[in-house]
Amino acid sequence: MKISIQKADWKKFKSDALICFQPEDKKWLVGSLDYYGKGTALHTQASQMIASGDMAGKKDEQIVLYAAKGEAAVGRVILIGLGSADKTTLETVRRAAARGVKKAQSLKMKSVTMYLPGVKGKNGEAVAAAATEGILLGLYKYDKFFKREKNDPKVELESVTFLADEATVMGSSIANCTKAINRALTISAATIFARDMENEPSNNKFPETLANWAAASGKQSGFKVTSFGPAELKKNKMVGIIAVNQGSVKEARFIIMEYKGSRKASDAPIVLVGKGITFDTGGISLKPGAGMADMKSDMSGAATVIATMQAVANLKLPINVVGLVSSAENMPSGSATRPGDVITYTNGVSAEIDNTDAEGRLVLADALIWAQKYNPKTVIDLATLTGACVVALGHVTTGMMGTDDKMMNKLKKIGDDVYERVCELPIYEEYEDLIKSDVADIKNVGGRWAGAITAALFLKRFTTYPWIHLDIAGTARSEAASDYIPKGGTGVAVRLLTQMLTEEAGK
Ligand code: BES
Ligand code: MN
Ligand code: ZN
Repeated sequence: MKISIQKADWKKFKSDALICFQPEDKKWLVGSLDYYGKGTALHTQASQMIASGDMAGKKDEQIVLYAAKGEAAVGRVILIGLGSADKTTLETVRRAAARGVKKAQSLKMKSVTMYLPGVKGKNGEAVAAAATEGILLGLYKYDKFFKREKNDPKVELESVTFLADEATVMGSSIANCTKAINRALTISAATIFARDMENEPSNNKFPETLANWAAASGKQSGFKVTSFGPAELKKNKMVGIIAVNQGSVKEARFIIMEYKGSRKASDAPIVLVGKGITFDTGGISLKPGAGMADMKSDMSGAATVIATMQAVANLKLPINVVGLVSSAENMPSGSATRPGDVITYTNGVSAEIDNTDAEGRLVLADALIWAQKYNPKTVIDLATLTGACVVALGHVTTGMMGTDDKMMNKLKKIGDDVYERVCELPIYEEYEDLIKSDVADIKNVGGRWAGAITAALFLKRFTTYPWIHLDIAGTARSEAASDYIPKGGTGVAVRLLTQMLTEEAGK
């Protein structure tokens, strides 16, 4: 997909369609279509549809209008309802742009032009970037397994050109808008990479596969990837990963990704940690059958970390970042871990495995101990960790817990901007009583109450640095498609983390 911005007159620019957005609080045709279009059939039709209320600018409205012969190089105008112009935010733009290109795609168009809607307080760079995200993420489909008929070739939208009337767009130069578009393309591609990994079925996806995906990405984008197999896991006493994987016929992996972009290689890095359970049956504490298939994306934390490493490297951010992924397959078998088993981590903390379905915290603990080696500025782990977090926050918000208050405040703000929102849950020490064990220092389940919090408090025992835990159990998969978020894997937090790392890099 090619996305660009250009100063041009829509009437002279050849494309399959011009996509325009009609706000609901304006009862007349707005912007350049009106300005340059007077006298054309397109203009007359559009004005009449708006005046009559047939196009009232509501978000669920879309109409297609046809140019009269010879009046414009563009074949059609697609008018998309925007909602309130006054309340338009960058998120409105992402969603509206997605609706526009999805309509064009459904009409089998190949190239379209688009007028960007204005957003109060935001410049052209921000708006063009948001539209780019909406376009790429909105067109995403995980359709590689569908049978295609030979006479039904896949027609894909190939280019979107944002049209500018002047040399500046909402206060930004075309050159700066182009830079913002390219950055958004890189970040959206990484998000799509994460979605693809999440959606891959678990008969094609094992810990070794995650390591291969990371290695391929590292080679292409420029970060170093090392992975530990059974021998190194044993040598380094990564007891959590070993215990969780021991019911599987496949090998576990611990994946280390290192990107050095800072001026000084010795600058303290930010470490990202991802849960990479390639399938979570629950183990001997077997999950019920209904909905278990969703556990193919129990490696979403890992997907986000791998994809964020890719984005950071492709953007060549001047910062040091380390990605760590603990990957295992949680299966029941004769060799599987039993409820009641006790393991002792290399930091000396022993853990009773009261429930083999609380496996995420067990594998993450090894990675959190490993992270110490880097003297990290901060460590952020991402995990589809608890159903309790989904009960608390639904699919709308990621649960955030941790000890790095300053960074948590930043993530809160960035989350609002990129619209991957995070909501802090408390980790008061009183909750620690819930994970006391009779036979070990801690146990891996805390009972019925505050399940997202007790999971975080388990992790906290393995941290010795500023730390944040993001429970993405609710946000990593969507149950229903919306404008730019399809059903299934969402690639959540790639945009959040990349924006945070961009700001930390001082760019
Ligand atoms: N992977 C699950 C959590 C999950 C649930 C992710 C729903 C996405 C959607 C995790 O490993 C798990 O099974 N957690 C248990 C913990 C419990 C046994 C303490 C849970 O939440 O039920
Ligand atoms: Mn589980
Ligand atoms: Zn799990």
